[in-house]
Amino acid sequence: MSDAAPASAAIPEDRLADLVARARSVLDRAHAPYSDFRVAAAVLDEQGRVHLGINVENASYGLTMCAERVAIGAAIAAGAKRIRAVGVTAQKLHPITPCGACRQVIREFADADAPVASDAADGKLVIATAGELLPAAFLSLVQGE
Ligand code: THU
Repeated sequence: MSDAAPASAAIPEDRLADLVARARSVLDRAHAPYSDFRVAAAVLDEQGRVHLGINVENASYGLTMCAERVAIGAAIAAGAKRIRAVGVTAQKLHPITPCGACRQVIREFADADAPVASDAADGKLVIATAGELLPAAFLSLVQGE
């Protein structure tokens, strides 16, 4: 059976837990010497593939790239067209959710009902949809939404 599914198909919670676990597996690759705040992300594409990212900071702080956008860039570079789900981790006491800029970039590729899952240090997941995280996102007319 193929993992591929329509972008709108519901993603079971254990699949989201897997996605966050995949993100966790690369957390130590984060380049965060300035903030010491490591973040990792995993995105599930429309073909069922997982793409990973970590935050990449820079001595010129404003050039920092967030983990979510690095993961999305990897997905698009690998030929992904849509994102079905996002997993994020910082392994902090409280789950982190994507920053505003990342929410906009997620919505470029993910439907409003796509889940974004984050974990807390105890492994508990918090799940919101891309549309809940960024209602009324700016979307191009090209996307026809
Ligand atoms: N960061 C992310 O990677 N993703 C987010 O959604 C929020 C913040 C990174 C940027 C910076 O390297 C560090 O976390 C502290 O802000």
